[in-house]
Amino acid sequence: MNLIKAKDYEDMSRKAANLIMAQVTLKPDSVLGLATGSTPMGTYQQLIGYYRQGDLDFSGVRTVNLDEYRGLSRTDSQSYYYFMQEHLFSQINLAPGASFIPDGTNDDAAAVCADYEETIRALGGVDLQLLGLGNNGHIGFNEPAEVFEKETHCVDLAQSTIEANSRFFASVDEVPTQAYTMGIRTIMKAKKILVIVNGAGKADILKQAFYGPITPKVPASILQLHPDVTVIADEAACGKL
Ligand code: F6R
Repeated sequence: MNLIKAKDYEDMSRKAANLIMAQVTLKPDSVLGLATGSTPMGTYQQLIGYYRQGDLDFSGVRTVNLDEYRGLSRTDSQSYYYFMQEHLFSQINLAPGASFIPDGTNDDAAAVCADYEETIRALGGVDLQLLGLGNNGHIGFNEPAEVFEKETHCVDLAQSTIEANSRFFASVDEVPTQAYTMGIRTIMKAKKILVIVNGAGKADILKQAFYGPITPKVPASILQLHPDVTVIADEAACGKL
């Protein structure tokens, strides 16, 4: 694992965007695995800036997102589809049809998950997967469990995740209780993984995930076994290392 220490959120975001820019520059038809949440918003803002300056061209890029809430339509402002349109896709030059997110409106979990695995396979796999780190060590929506769930699956969200994500909703009761998420093997098959972590609130879990035992109780700990992981964490998140 390659740990890059950043000064603060801005610095973390710029460093992450620089690595993504390098990936797309070296391989213009890259498949990027993307995440939602607070952590990557600054990274996406930087990427939009690079695109506007003419330094980055997304016309050959394909994207696959980690996860989507089950039951939210694409027009729902809390859906991850909507988030990605808002924070990245509508502001860069991705080709139409080049972005994939699990279909939260389809109730047939088995079909959604099998289709998503097939989509990723047909794209040739993920070149660079961007990940945030959940407060409980989740990656995508792979919650702490007794075993690692391997493929894309439908998951019951942990109460702590529902509470953490309620900040984006009018009330905690509106947070969906289930999501479709890439599985651990789906994530681990990415050629490169880039994890971004910021804030003192993530200091304990960052330490557990990358310096503690590898266990499904801390899903991100599996990343210790990936051959090409870069973690960019700000000073506050590195506080317990
Ligand atoms: C989002 C995702 C989640 C988040 C994690 C951290 O697509 O897969 O694993 O990366 O919950 O969220 P933030 O960045 O909001 O702290």
